[in-house]
Amino acid sequence: MENLFTKENQVITIVLIGVLLLLLMGLALLLFFFLSRKKIIQKELQKKNLAINHQKEMIQSIIVTQEKERKRIAQDLHDDISAKLNVINLNANLLKDGNLKPEEYTLVNDAILKATDKTLESARKIAHNLLPPILDKFGLKEAIEELADSFSNSRKIAIDYNLEYPKEFLSKAKELHLFRIVQELINNSVRHGKAKNSVVNIVTKNKNLLFSYTDNGVGFDIDDTKHQKGLGMKNIESRAALLNANFLVESQKNTGFEITLNIINPLKNEHNKYCNCR
Ligand SMILES: Nc1ncnc2c1ncn2[C@@H]1O[C@H](COP(=O)(O)OP(=O)(O)OP(=O)(O)O)[C@@H](O)[C@H]1O
Ligand SMILES: [Mg+2]
Repeated sequence: MENLFTKENQVITIVLIGVLLLLLMGLALLLFFFLSRKKIIQKELQKKNLAINHQKEMIQSIIVTQEKERKRIAQDLHDDISAKLNVINLNANLLKDGNLKPEEYTLVNDAILKATDKTLESARKIAHNLLPPILDKFGLKEAIEELADSFSNSRKIAIDYNLEYPKEFLSKAKELHLFRIVQELINNSVRHGKAKNSVVNIVTKNKNLLFSYTDNGVGFDIDDTKHQKGLGMKNIESRAALLNANFLVESQKNTGFEITLNIINPLKNEHNKYCNCR
């Protein structure tokens, strides 16, 4: 009888230990699940924070560029327009006073005409800079061709282009973004790359547009942080995001510069208006 009791006790102990072990295993599994979940959430948070910081940087660069643009426009207006209008005003007052000899009258009149011509030319240049009329009237292909030809004619750099761009493939707003990107790329090739040649390519395939730009200048080391100070490349990145484009920059010291942008299905969610994000 006693033997039976001890055997029963042994079974109960084994069952209890088994249950305890199972409980412990369950607890360990729960703990493992909880900790790994926490890690995943932490990683996701880190990723989101990185994306938010990146977006903040892009917004910051857009704001700084806008401020720079405003300053430049204010300077242009002050130096080119106001200064010349002052000359016109002074000379017009001389005419009004009427105490001029005939030869002085001719001189003052000529000064007014000259200053008026210059003011008109300045106003045209400022407006042209804000929104190139050719882009508005004829579209992206013609605007890039004109830009490239004007650089080639100035002999700073020879620019070739191969633009298989169907009219109005992009909205006006997107055409302006791509045009500003081309402007920045050409300026960089001249300023930094000291390139003799560059090429602009556009092809459209299915619903996508593939853009590439290469120069044969000195290039630069992409990983070197000293090349990450400028606003130009950051703006290109922001505009690429607005164009819903993947982009890739390839450059090494002494191998020139290359950028490709793949604009994916640009007609999706389209608003055919210029936006004011210059
Ligand atoms: N085509 C290029 N050839 C050689 N170096 C380049 C080229 N494009 C860019 N870089 C390098 O990358 C840096 C960053 O260019 P980014 O356009 O962002 O700035 P930036 O031209 O110096 O200034 P910003 O565009 O704001 O006036 C440049 O300073 C230059 O060192
Ligand atoms: Mg630049």
